[in-house]
Amino acid sequence: MENGKKVMLSGIQPSGELHIGNYLGPLIHWPEMIEEYDCYFFLADLHTLTVRQEPAELRKRVLKLLANYIAVGLDPEKCTLFIQSHVPAHSQLSWVLNCYTMFGELSRMTQFKDKSAKHADNINAGLFTYPVLMAADILIYQPDFVPVGEDQRQHVEICRDIAERFNGIYGETFKVPEPYISKVGARIMSLNQPESKMSKSAPEGCVFLLDKPEDIMRKFKRAITDSDTENCVRYDPEHKPGVANLMQIYGSATGKTYEEIEREFDGLGYGAFKPAVGEAVVETLRPIREETERLLADKAYLESVYRAGAEKAAYVAGKTLRKVYKKVGLVER
Ligand code: TYM
Repeated sequence: MENGKKVMLSGIQPSGELHIGNYLGPLIHWPEMIEEYDCYFFLADLHTLTVRQEPAELRKRVLKLLANYIAVGLDPEKCTLFIQSHVPAHSQLSWVLNCYTMFGELSRMTQFKDKSAKHADNINAGLFTYPVLMAADILIYQPDFVPVGEDQRQHVEICRDIAERFNGIYGETFKVPEPYISKVGARIMSLNQPESKMSKSAPEGCVFLLDKPEDIMRKFKRAITDSDTENCVRYDPEHKPGVANLMQIYGSATGKTYEEIEREFDGLGYGAFKPAVGEAVVETLRPIREETERLLADKAYLESVYRAGAEKAAYVAGKTLRKVYKKVGLVER
């Protein structure tokens, strides 16, 4: 805790373009948080190595994601923005925590099961111990809250278990953080398969932050609504998952509640609703796209941001790492 402020931390993998699930889920809320909390937001580049990456592409995507962070409103003067691999203490703490995490616990992670099914030819040890690195990312900054989407809840839960286990053996060492999951936008679903979450690995149903307006409009016009004949905009995720998802997207982009959306489209049907959602998304994303492009042209500025961020993060992370090394009995240098 610095200046009495609570601490918040989160990260995103630069494993592909950001999509509106990442944005309307957690990211959209981060700029408000920097006013109130001491915030650390990082680019989880080490995590991307669990799946094969094209090296030159990965380098580019890291800068693009950093530009996205700043473009959505994460002012580097008000929060700490950094690249995970620039702060070696994450990997160092991860090793220690590996020795306090059980094989059985990691085997139960649904993301591990999903990803091993998707990448059956590359079920590497990193994919298996991924949640331990994530726990290290978190615990090393002693945050109070970790804002993520619903799909990361299980990873924050295991992080809490690891912290409690460690504290139980060595006494209070880590703050046990709370997941912070917003009610609207926590799980944005694919536009063409509303029963699966929106994901960059299924690009047809996915709207990317840097998509052109005409592509965004086309994707929304083609979005699956529902097979019912009701043609009525009503929030019913069980029976009308496609419409509920579009309402979630529209609500996140405009700040309107489900009741307000139902009233707005009363009697108008899907034909009016789908392009309206597309337009709201286009308008929300336009300034982000323009600002990202402007920032990407200024590499020197982006470099200065991630250098300063790494310095501040390394200072805080170093303190926790020294404490942990001492507790487990490693000799101080
Ligand atoms: P990642 O990169 O897959 O996703 C980044 C954030 O976006 C959220 N998200 C979604 N939210 C709503 N609807 C969706 N369809 C959707 N898809 C993704 C994710 O929940 C996440 O919050 N392991 C993490 C990165 C990470 C991390 C951390 C996060 C590494 N270390 C420490 C927090 C703290 C990941 O792969 O997120």
